[in-house]
Amino acid sequence: SLLLFALVLLLTAECLRARRPRSFPPGPRAFPLVGNMFSLDPGDVHGDMTKLSEKYGKVYSLKMGPSWTVVLNGLSALQEGLTKGDHLNDRPEFPIHSDVLFYTHCIIFSNGHMWKQQRRFALFTLKYFGVGKKSLEFSILDEFMYISKEIANHKGKPFNPHLIMNNAVSNIICSLVFGHRFEYGNEKFLKMMKLFDKGSQIELYNAFPVLMRRLPGPHHALQNIYGEIMDLIKTEVNQHKEDWNPSEPRDFIDCYLNEIQKVDAGFNEDNLVMCGFDLFGAGSHTTSVTLRWALLYMTKYPEVQAKVQAEIDEVVGTSRQPSMEDRADLPYTDAVIHEIQRMGNIVPLSLPHVTTRDIRLGGYKIPKGVTIIPNLTSVLFDKNEWETPDAFNPGHFLNPEGKFVKRAAFIPFSAGKRVCLGENLARMELFLFFTSFMQRFSFSTPPGVEPVLKPRFGVTLSPPPFEICATPRKE
Ligand code: HEM
Repeated sequence: SLLLFALVLLLTAECLRARRPRSFPPGPRAFPLVGNMFSLDPGDVHGDMTKLSEKYGKVYSLKMGPSWTVVLNGLSALQEGLTKGDHLNDRPEFPIHSDVLFYTHCIIFSNGHMWKQQRRFALFTLKYFGVGKKSLEFSILDEFMYISKEIANHKGKPFNPHLIMNNAVSNIICSLVFGHRFEYGNEKFLKMMKLFDKGSQIELYNAFPVLMRRLPGPHHALQNIYGEIMDLIKTEVNQHKEDWNPSEPRDFIDCYLNEIQKVDAGFNEDNLVMCGFDLFGAGSHTTSVTLRWALLYMTKYPEVQAKVQAEIDEVVGTSRQPSMEDRADLPYTDAVIHEIQRMGNIVPLSLPHVTTRDIRLGGYKIPKGVTIIPNLTSVLFDKNEWETPDAFNPGHFLNPEGKFVKRAAFIPFSAGKRVCLGENLARMELFLFFTSFMQRFSFSTPPGVEPVLKPRFGVTLSPPPFEICATPRKE
């Protein structure tokens, strides 16, 4: 009977905790223990969250397991939250960070001084090694020559572009961080990619940490998987230390080793390895997924592909590779890239933020320590922002004269101080790879196969596995 009494007491406490705190944003009724967790379709969480805003407003709250979370929807709520002041600059604690990565710090998981310091250093160093400069442009165009050879080897026959696209895109971040590229099919590289793919169970782990820590299952292998990735990066660091010349830094690792000499606690070898992990993790999969969406959309809309090719033929021709300077003269192509990113919506809920003090948002009081989810989907598909939000329409980024127009609601990289650190790098890669693909090949689905545009929900929204045919265009 004592057990029963304790159970009743526990349940009553849970029922009380499931009651929305006063002055908190409204939201659907939360259940004891699970909150609103099971009211969201795991395959379409962002879609369900967007629908909820129609009923509960642009700023509403949900109980995710034991904690209350506030979801921001629509451009003005996101701007109010992310760009005005610094009260949302922090990340909540990610269980994966404490349990598996042992609190090592770089950018994605860190807060306060550590985050500012590491982010500033990473941005400066990436710029130093060419983000926005000709040298990086050449590396990207050079990498395209490798991937185009691989593609041409398929001689127009169907192939799955997943691995080589990953390889090509990752080589850009590898060159910046490690100072070298990997040959396609390189064992060490394939292992790293495989490990990152396996590590995608982090979503589940972060969502249900208490449960996952106790339940048996494959997620317990995460520690080993991340350990192996860290070891691979450590090997790169050790190789650098052997022939590193402080006066001639070759890449990010060399610059970081220089910084460690300056005796600042924030810069040490563990954090360097974590930085390699952050940059590689955030910078390869995202851009590669976007490029795969690009190819898939071109097979779905061959008339758009033909128009892009005609524009490139006219402005760039076939005797030279495209360059960043061509972008201003390729408004239709630029609009298509933006529309692919809008429809691809690869990071639909951005990354979570947390309130650093009691704040007012959307007219509600939100206490310190509440997780905030910026729902990017609600902005990228807002019917008040886009003429045809659910249709692939490059016209969203063109004025009646056919000139490219920027749209405030285009926020696939999020906004504010935590905005994607690799935005400029990603934009360069997307533009140069995409225009080069369109200049050299025409893409189509294998005969009789319809392109499937329904995304798979994982670390990002990615296209389901697909095969594609690439027909070389005239030289
Ligand atoms: C963060 C999107 C490519 C590095 C983010 C965030 C988004 C995003 C939505 C979360 C921002 C927030 O917290 O509000 C994308 C997309 C990409 C892309 C759509 C490609 C199409 C890259 C690349 C890099 C990169 C190439 C490599 C340098 C990072 C880092 C963060 C981040 C380090 C964490 C920033 C911080 O916490 O301060 N990205 N990203 N991303 N991204 Fe990207």
